[in-house]
Amino acid sequence: MAFGGGKVILLGEHSVVYGRPALAAGLTRGVEATARVAEADALRIEPWGLDVSPDPQADQPLARAFHALLAPYGASRQAVAIDATVDLPSAAGLGCSAALGVAVAGAVDQALGIERDAEGRAGAALTWERVFHGNPSGIDTAVSAQGGVIVYRKGEPIERVHPRAPLRLVVAHSGEQSTTKEMVEMVARQHEKATERLDKTFDAIAAIVRNARLAIEAGDLRALGQLMDLNQALLNSLLVSTARIEELCTAALEAGALGAKLTGAGGGGCVIALVDTDASAEHVLRALEQMDAEVFEVEAGA
Ligand code: PMV
Repeated sequence: MAFGGGKVILLGEHSVVYGRPALAAGLTRGVEATARVAEADALRIEPWGLDVSPDPQADQPLARAFHALLAPYGASRQAVAIDATVDLPSAAGLGCSAALGVAVAGAVDQALGIERDAEGRAGAALTWERVFHGNPSGIDTAVSAQGGVIVYRKGEPIERVHPRAPLRLVVAHSGEQSTTKEMVEMVARQHEKATERLDKTFDAIAAIVRNARLAIEAGDLRALGQLMDLNQALLNSLLVSTARIEELCTAALEAGALGAKLTGAGGGGCVIALVDTDASAEHVLRALEQMDAEVFEVEAGA
């Protein structure tokens, strides 16, 4: 069995596309996949009930991604049938597509007897991820394959971060779907028109990320929460937040969260709220549930 973990971006989404650092953490929820040598290449995805065949021309992105992932294995390889089970909401900023790519690449490796480390698997899954995201920074596949808490910067080796205190997050799905590709393209258009202003915003987010790393290593969750709020304000200035996301963040903070922000591309998807005690977790969970959000608690990077 091969596993691709879901992830949360703790801080630094979007600016990471422009070479700034981001902090991300793996989740214990994700995608499991098994593969066996078969007559023809096939991918079955549950619980979606989807059967996918590799096809570079297909309308269905999954078929194109499956083709892109298999291509580097070469024409002389044996065919593989893969069963994948997804335990993550899709289009939610929790890295579902990357987790699928990492799990599928891992399962294919196992079926064909190929040995590869986590970095290699993340690289293999990036060809898959490009079909969905156009210009992915690589953070999703990296953290999906590696787990833990990492600082990611495009083109640089991953830096592992060791939290001094558990990073307990309440995750709430806004109920709004968004596509990462469109959100990244929307920020790119702003960057083209107002390069200097956007670069300043990205630099400010980079400073927040550096301070957040220190706060995580020192176990200073109060400081981390404040930095998450600052990051959220800057994401809002990039127009990737929504009224619903702002409402969820406010409700989480009023219920006692130390900080709250969107995670991933924004435009919908999930909000993460940092909590430090059972009581505050319970309050925040209840408050967000009352706003009709699908809510669950995770320990990031566990
Ligand atoms: O929506 P997600 O979870 O795939 O996160 C995207 C993160 C971005 O920084 C917006 C894009 C990227 O490729 O890093």
